[in-house]
Amino acid sequence: MAMKRVSRVLIGALAVVGALALCAALGFALVGVSARPEPPALEAKLARAARHLLIPRAARARANPQPANAEAIEEGMEHWADHCAICHGNDGKGDTAIGRGLYPRAPDMTLAATQELSDGELFWIIENGVKLTGMPAWGSSSGEEGEEEEESWDLVHFIRRLPRLTAGELDEMRRHNPSSREEIEREREIEDFLAGDRESRHSSGKKHRSDDKKHRH
Ligand code: HEC
Repeated sequence: MAMKRVSRVLIGALAVVGALALCAALGFALVGVSARPEPPALEAKLARAARHLLIPRAARARANPQPANAEAIEEGMEHWADHCAICHGNDGKGDTAIGRGLYPRAPDMTLAATQELSDGELFWIIENGVKLTGMPAWGSSSGEEGEEEEESWDLVHFIRRLPRLTAGELDEMRRHNPSSREEIEREREIEDFLAGDRESRHSSGKKHRSDDKKHRH
């Protein structure tokens, strides 16, 4: 008898736990996975602190082997406009459709929080990316390590320049952004043309009976 009561209590307790877990899962699925809410400041701070600790100390201490000359900054700028600006913006403020929609957001890299990171830490982040965020790893897996690393170090020089970019430099960067609106427009026209071509070939087949009827008139 006593055993029966115990098992009934146990089953009841399990049912409650199960129901709670289901509610939690549903709640998470409905609200918790959205990237829309602004990440709470404390969460962002903790995530950055954890990121800092998880980057090896020796990597953080590495000095930039590339001289900070005009050529390096120019290289970094072109590379940034081509590969990074889509999320970070040419000005590094992260105010782009993608940068604003990611969780965590693409940060404003002109601010102290980024500028205070060491060259080695910036380099490590560029090469390895940041797990569970939108930041991709850009390090080479193709064996061309030397050249790729040089590019990343140039990017570090360029990141240092973000807070002082001139209007002229921003103009120049726009020319290096992946595709201008006109280019996209032209590509779309070509696609539409080709799609139309495919369609007319289709409609000459038997599938388009309404077309057949029209032709019989
Ligand atoms: C698909 C979007 C995306 C692209 C493209 C991208 N990033 Fe990022 N990046 C992010 C996000 C999101 C973060 C924030 C990560 C975090 O919170 O830890 C970030 C963070 C960083 C950081 C750390 C800055 C800080 O203060 O936390 C550096 C440095 C960086 N990116 C450099 C680059 C460079 C250089 C490129 C181009 C080669 C690039 N990123 C391309 C999304 C992107």
